[in-house]
Amino acid sequence: MKKVIYPGTFDPVTFGHIDIVERASDLFDEVVVTVAKNPSKTCMFSVDERTLMLKESLKHLPNVTADSFDGLVVDHAKAIGALGIIRGLRAVSDFEYEFQMALMNRKLNGELTTIFLMPHEKYTYLNSTIIRNLAQFKGDVTDFVPEVVLEFLKKKSGK
Ligand code: COA
Repeated sequence: MKKVIYPGTFDPVTFGHIDIVERASDLFDEVVVTVAKNPSKTCMFSVDERTLMLKESLKHLPNVTADSFDGLVVDHAKAIGALGIIRGLRAVSDFEYEFQMALMNRKLNGELTTIFLMPHEKYTYLNSTIIRNLAQFKGDVTDFVPEVVLEFLKKKSGK
């Protein structure tokens, strides 16, 4: 059984993230998408809300589950028996940060391998900040996020 973990902030999950999960779910037996803490970010949605949105948007993939944790990704990966960490690379600008994180995670646990997957090029410019900004100014985000996220964004903006 080859299990991998895909950690991220997912504030909120977008079609770009889902594209990565779908690719990983084709390649591995089990994918655990996990809401992790990035201490430098202040989130719009709570951990529970983000996990719920992930669960709802990934239910078409039978070998994918979603969870959350507070701590180091390497510790959670070990606890659930994951062999690798999935990360998405959208553009060259992602590379340096991802490279540093992958090497640090390897230093922390030499048994874990980071695997980079590229989403479809139509998602290259997409990130969660853009979605939150668009939604706050009532911009149309229907092409970028699943139905459940649209509902959560509507609730947040009090529409
Ligand atoms: N499609 C669309 N957007 C994508 C994407 C994709 N395929 N892949 C990444 N993004 C966007 C995200 O939406 C996010 O956008 P935002 O900054 O506007 O919110 C951005 O790219 C980066 O997101 P993410 O993948 O969520 O990474 P992150 O930098 O927020 O979080 C953690 C990284 C949570 C995995 C990292 O902080 C972590 O590992 N935390 C746990 C503690 C730990 O182990 N620390 C040691 C690390 S060495």
